[in-house]
Amino acid sequence: MIDHVIKIGYEAGSVIREGFGTDFKIEFKGSVSNLVTEIDKKSEKVITDYIKKTFPTHGILAEESGSSNLDAEYVWVIDPIDGTTNFAHGLPIVGVSIGLQKNGKTIAGVVYHVMNDVMYAAELGSGTTKNGKKIRVSENSDIAKSLLVTGFPYDIAQNPYNALEIFVEMVKISRGMRRLGSASIDFCYLAEGVFDGFWEVNLQPWDICAGILLVEEAGGLVTDFAGSPSSIFAKQVVCSNHHIHNSMMEVIHRHFKAE
Ligand code: IPD
Ligand code: CA
Ligand code: CA
Repeated sequence: MIDHVIKIGYEAGSVIREGFGTDFKIEFKGSVSNLVTEIDKKSEKVITDYIKKTFPTHGILAEESGSSNLDAEYVWVIDPIDGTTNFAHGLPIVGVSIGLQKNGKTIAGVVYHVMNDVMYAAELGSGTTKNGKKIRVSENSDIAKSLLVTGFPYDIAQNPYNALEIFVEMVKISRGMRRLGSASIDFCYLAEGVFDGFWEVNLQPWDICAGILLVEEAGGLVTDFAGSPSSIFAKQVVCSNHHIHNSMMEVIHRHFKAE
């Protein structure tokens, strides 16, 4: 199955690369910060057309075109461009994120770092690869020596879950904080040991389905803010190399405010 997922990722990536920096149409999804471009839609069509043609009985949960057949044994969870704001502004940090679930469990996932031409892929029980080579999370156990990453949801002005208070303390206790604008790529860099920790609130299934598997198969840990095992519907993720997870959870618990 992973070969199909990788193939679709590359096909969608070509569409995105061709569209990058061109004069594409942009629409708003409810607010001036929440964008969708015609390239998001084109990329999603390439992915869903492939799935419908090759696996007509499978379900689809996709960001831009919605869902179909979610009770099927196999369901594909698709973010056609993760990092649309980056894409719209010409910043080349954009991912294609495709996860495949069987009976509600993610069995395969890829994130294609399009403009770097790097394919991250994982299959349940088989580890995580970057352009075909195995990768692992970092070994660092000291949050003071950690490079962390986060993202902000489109409703950050409402400060959901006290996300801003959590951010401020994480900045103070870590070596550095980054905000790349693509959750799926945050997971990739965690999986290969570049980042030691990543957390974010208000994420959607398509932002995290593939990324969770990439991190877990690379030896990392992904939970929700309560410390429970990850789920694609959890909305919040805390994700680490295991060693700094408790330090991150302490910060989160000090500031977390349930909605
Ligand atoms: C967004 C990115 C961003 C994250 C937002 C997501 P989109 O996805 O992953 O990093 O902070 O919460 O919505 O809209 O570019 O697919
Ligand atoms: Ca996304
Ligand atoms: Ca998207």
